[in-house]
Amino acid sequence: METVLEVRAARHSYGGTRALDGVDLEVGAGECVALLGPNGAGKTTLVNLVIGLLQPQEASWIRVHGGDPRIAATRRHLGVVQQSIGFPNTLKVAELVTGAAVRGGVPRQAAGPLMAELDLTELAGRRAAKLSGGQKQRLQLAMALVTSPALLVLDEPTAGLDVPSRRQFWRVLAERRARGTGVLVTTHLIEEAAVVADRVVVLDHGRILAADRPEALMARLPDRTVTARTTLDRARLERLPGVVSISCDGDRVRLATRAPETLLRVLLSEDSDLTDLRVEGAGLADAVVGLTEGNAA
Ligand SMILES: Nc1ncnc2c1ncn2[C@@H]1O[C@H](COP(=O)(O)OP(=O)(O)O)[C@@H](O)[C@H]1O
Ligand SMILES: [Mg+2]
Repeated sequence: METVLEVRAARHSYGGTRALDGVDLEVGAGECVALLGPNGAGKTTLVNLVIGLLQPQEASWIRVHGGDPRIAATRRHLGVVQQSIGFPNTLKVAELVTGAAVRGGVPRQAAGPLMAELDLTELAGRRAAKLSGGQKQRLQLAMALVTSPALLVLDEPTAGLDVPSRRQFWRVLAERRARGTGVLVTTHLIEEAAVVADRVVVLDHGRILAADRPEALMARLPDRTVTARTTLDRARLERLPGVVSISCDGDRVRLATRAPETLLRVLLSEDSDLTDLRVEGAGLADAVVGLTEGNAA
């Protein structure tokens, strides 16, 4: 498989804040890699390095389609959907998509079919600044895809989209991937990463905690959290069956687990004074804790 993105030893600091701390990553042609991590993990920083917006620091090495993304000739192979973007007040939808085609060195006629594919034809004469959130995302995607890039980079593209818009978004991407476009997409939604990606890379505090196929990763993650007030001490909690990670807040404990039924049975039998019991789906935070502690066997 041809490599369309190569990241080696990416490090980045903003003043004294270390946002990335040695990240290696590759995306192949037609492959979708999801970069999953909580807020502040360093996802946008990595994206901004990949799209040539940030200067590489230290020995960070970034190649897109074999070239440096800070060079215009390389950026023609790159499509970008950013997390937050404002459109100029005066420009209309069709002008922006056509402009992206011309800047990317493809015929302006490429804009029409793409606008049709993303349901933008009816909005062609609308000012971009007046579009809804979902329409703006579709416009960004059209502008990103009009040059048929080798690599598409999307930073939290579906945040704020409704379910039908999400589905359309992923359907369009699947078609592009089938034609060889590599995709790097950031998200803080585990479920989304698991469904759309060939590979999931979990980032936290600027480091990669895990990188695997979604099925393999999900098998290592907790799927429930059990919270309760208990008098059991930490040593006894650690011996409970199926516990992936433990966090305490006063006398309230939070246990991440992949076997909630077994855990609850033992927990209730060991602590007859247990109160405030709750069982919930595990979130990304629990998964990250599980992976960080390295005991997600
Ligand atoms: N322009 C900036 N100046 C200073 N600190 C920043 C800047 N951008 C991001 N950071 C910090 O770098 C870390 C990573 O941020 P970011 O890459 O935006 O993470 P994510 O996209 O995963 O939420 C955070 O601690 C954030 O506060
Ligand atoms: Mg971000």
